[in-house]
Formats: sequence, structure tokens, C-alpha cells
Amino acid sequence: MKRRIGKYAVLMALCMLMSVVLAGCSGKKETPAEPEILLGFSQLGSESAWRIGNTRDIEEKAESYDISLMLENANQKQENQIAAIRRFIAYQVDVIAFSPIVEEGWDNVLLEAKNAGIPVILVDRDINTETEGLTTCLIGADFYKEGVMAGEYLIRKADSLELDHVKIVEITGTEDSTPMRQRQLGFMDTISADSRMEVIESINGDFLKSRGAECMRELLDKYGPDIDAVYSHNDEMTLGALPEIENAGYVPGSDMIIISIDGGQEAIDALKAGKINCVVECTPMLGKTLMETTLKLMAGGSVNKVIHPAETYFSDEMDLSAIPPRGY
Ligand code: AHR
Repeated sequence: MKRRIGKYAVLMALCMLMSVVLAGCSGKKETPAEPEILLGFSQLGSESAWRIGNTRDIEEKAESYDISLMLENANQKQENQIAAIRRFIAYQVDVIAFSPIVEEGWDNVLLEAKNAGIPVILVDRDINTETEGLTTCLIGADFYKEGVMAGEYLIRKADSLELDHVKIVEITGTEDSTPMRQRQLGFMDTISADSRMEVIESINGDFLKSRGAECMRELLDKYGPDIDAVYSHNDEMTLGALPEIENAGYVPGSDMIIISIDGGQEAIDALKAGKINCVVECTPMLGKTLMETTLKLMAGGSVNKVIHPAETYFSDEMDLSAIPPRGY
């Protein structure tokens, strides 16, 4: 492990001094403790139940794997994430992990981490850099596949309802983020082969409940009864949109097909209540893989470049009674 500087070093020195003094008092001979691994993690914000569950899982798993965690929340701002990564470099953490809010704009700070010899793990979302090899690996969902699952469900639903035309509105996640780009791409690649499908508008809801409601109001004002299906990139925005649909006099799940992504408890409950038709799973439980990958890197081992968790979908085609509590 590297030598730490500043506050951290002072703290370590004090602890060592205390243990020497205490060992002297008890007359016992102390064996030096294993140096702790210090992981700096920059979380992008707290915009959703998914994100809050993800942060909690990482904190819990760091504790159970005995890894010291320096956690910083960037409150939805890329500049805060860049500043946090710079602080991690200054502290000489052993490993840096971060969930990038958007894909572009990371080259400079990651070059600094590379020059400092600190490995970087991407959690949840991916990045685009001009220089190759700035990160070690990515631990996160296959967002493209999630979009495909959403599209495939809609095609099956249109078949079962014998629809000859499906007008879709799409509420997307944060612009230029990996889940926004890949969920859109996977969905479009899947439905574009079906001539019944038409996306009449795509609107940015930024993964937020309040924006989901605003976007839905706007879409209902514009298209009203013409909307056959709502494809929303996350549960938070879907949960914001549902009351707007009801307030406008429509029954979500019957008058409009509702497709969401994440699989949090509230959305699963709405699915069971018939207000949502399909929820594609995106698990926030990435902490265990993050800690195990950190340990492997510290032991000099090699890790896979991309690590996707297994994910599925839940829909009104299934028996939903057996879904265990979601935990987020
Ligand atoms: O990057 C994962 C996405 O970000 C989740 O779908 C969403 O809920 C979160 O805000």
C-alpha cells in the first residue's frame, strides 16, 4: 500500500503510537496489523432510489470486506466528480472508483490518476476518452440489452393486443450518459424492424421524478389519446409520470402501455397493481463485485475489462407473486 499524506497520515501515525503505548502497558508484544486498503469512490448523486440503494450497497460491502472507503457525492455535477478524483489522488488512495455522470470529459483527470499510479474502476456507467487505457475495468449493467428487453416486450404486447400501429413516447435519462444512450439504442434497434412502431417524441427527463412528471404533462398536452406506449428510462421518471397520466383521465397500464427500467420496489408494486406493464431490471447491487475487484487489483491479479451483473425483466405476462423484496 502507498504512504498516505496529510490528515490521513497524521491519523495513521497517531493510531500506531497509541497501539505501541497500549502494547507497552499490557506487556504484550504487538504484531503489526495489515495495512488497510483505501478506496476512493465518487458517486454521481442521489437522483433516484436506485442510486441511493447503490451507495448504501457500496458502503455496506466496503465494511464487510474491510476496505476503507472515502465516499464523495457529486450532487449531479461532473466538476464535483473531477474535484473528488483529484482529492483521492492527493490522498494517495490505493484504488479510485467512480460512477461517471456523462461519458465525455474525463481524459485530463484520469491521466493524472494514471501518472500517480492509481488504478481506476468505472462503476455503473462507461466513459469515452481520447487516450486508451485510462481505466482498469467497468462494473455495471448492460444498458443496451436492457433497451432490447424493453423493445422486445413492446413487440410482444402489440402482438397480444393485435395493435396495427403503436405510437410511443420516450422519456430519456440524463443526456450523454451511458444508460441514456444505450437504452435508447437497444430499444430503437429492436423496434425499428417492426413497421407498427413509431416513436412520436423523445424527451429528456434527466432520471428525476419531478422531470418525469413535467415531461409527461408536456407529452399529454401535445398528444393526449394518441399515446399508445410510454418508454421511460428509469423507475423514478415513471413514478413521476403515472399520476400525470391518471390526472389527465387515462388508465396507465390499460389505456397506455407503460415500460420502465430499474426494478425498484415502488415500480414493482405499481407493476403488480397493473399501472406498469413491464419493468426491466437494472441492479444497483454492485458493491460486492467492486470490493472483490479492488482486492484482486491490490493483490496484483488481473480482472475482466467489463463485468455485467445478471439481469432480467418483470412483466404482466408473468406470475408476479414470487418476486422477492427488491431492497431498493
Ligand atoms: O446509471 C443507472 C441509472 O441511473 C438508473 O437506471 C437510474 O435510476 C439512475 O439514476
